[in-house]
Amino acid sequence: MNHKENKIREDYLKKVIDYVRREVRNSDLAHRFDHVECVAKIAKKISKKEKVDLEVVLVSAYLHDVVSRKESRNKPHYVASAEKAKEILRKVGYNEDFIEKVYDVIVEASYESWISGIRPKSKEAKVLHDADLLEAMGARGIARAFAYAGAYGSKELGEVNFNPENPPKNTSHERLVDSSPISHFASKLLHLRNMMLTQSGKKMAKEKHKFMVRFLKQYKREMMQNK
Ligand SMILES: [Fe+2]
Ligand SMILES: [Fe+2]
Repeated sequence: MNHKENKIREDYLKKVIDYVRREVRNSDLAHRFDHVECVAKIAKKISKKEKVDLEVVLVSAYLHDVVSRKESRNKPHYVASAEKAKEILRKVGYNEDFIEKVYDVIVEASYESWISGIRPKSKEAKVLHDADLLEAMGARGIARAFAYAGAYGSKELGEVNFNPENPPKNTSHERLVDSSPISHFASKLLHLRNMMLTQSGKKMAKEKHKFMVRFLKQYKREMMQNK
């Protein structure tokens, strides 16, 4: 590292943020700048309790969704984002060693990597992994699930035909019943709390998880599914 540890080059970071702000303008509503910024804030909070290079964490957080699923075509969007991150960081002036770290953090931290069996190795990747998953939970997670489903043409909001307190075990990637945002809770969102890798991540996930369960119970009542 040829910059001082935990010293963030604010002028560089500002340039990265400006790039990202422009790049994600047309992403689906769940993956625009507010998502990226929330992930960066959560990552910063988690970092306070972890021994990490905060600059790597923040730069990776801002760039982790810089290429949307629509644009990434023949490769996973996290690989496309990590590649685009390299390009942007070179333009800004970061050194190659730093750029490689950010690349690895973005790839290792992604949910899709987890599903395909890749686990975050570095502390920085663990922090980003937790921060990104936390943004898929709680009130923000609920809002984003519906925004995402709308953007990708879900036919209905869906029904709560599972027990929110004890969702089906078959994890994440499998779509259980349909592609509705409500079924997304059973297949992914209600399982995220068990995927947290940091202490503060685990803590934050608890509250967000509870809120999602409450939401689903109320939703079920309103559809009179108990009747
Ligand atoms: Fe992503
Ligand atoms: Fe994300």
